[in-house]
Amino acid sequence: MELKREMLDALNSQLNAELYSAYLYLAMAAYFDSKGLKGFAHWMRVQAEEEVEHAMKFYDYINDRGGRVILRAIEKPPTEWDSITDAIRAGLEHERAVTEAISSLVDLARKLGDKPTEVFLHWFIEEQVEEEKSFAEILQALQLAGESPQALLLLDQRLAQRKD
Ligand SMILES: [Fe+2]
Ligand SMILES: [Fe+2]
Repeated sequence: MELKREMLDALNSQLNAELYSAYLYLAMAAYFDSKGLKGFAHWMRVQAEEEVEHAMKFYDYINDRGGRVILRAIEKPPTEWDSITDAIRAGLEHERAVTEAISSLVDLARKLGDKPTEVFLHWFIEEQVEEEKSFAEILQALQLAGESPQALLLLDQRLAQRKD
């Protein structure tokens, strides 16, 4: 079954969105590094790498279906946030927007009767639950403990442990 034009364009858009996610989290890593929060920065750097992997899943899938990957310009991410909590909240909001985008892709695949793409997207539907959860957990910890130096250092040490 040939990949329809509309589906191909939407998949290429999502490939770009995943690269933007990587860029956004790398910008957050740089912001945290500038604040001396090495653990937060490490966590965001790992997160950025994960987003590149997501982008590559779209890259491979488009190729597997005989489509043409078209790379577009990646939007410039913000460089500053009002606070540590604000940056993490922005991350959670971004993940929620990505969840909506993936959901729209599933709707489009269904509309076009494109079962392989629908199945391919299932992994992302599950992944987005994890993505929202991991940002929500950090946000909750910040909201509970506040941004006192002690609380931040403790959380920073925890986030430094992230492996993948
Ligand atoms: Fe992603
Ligand atoms: Fe993500």
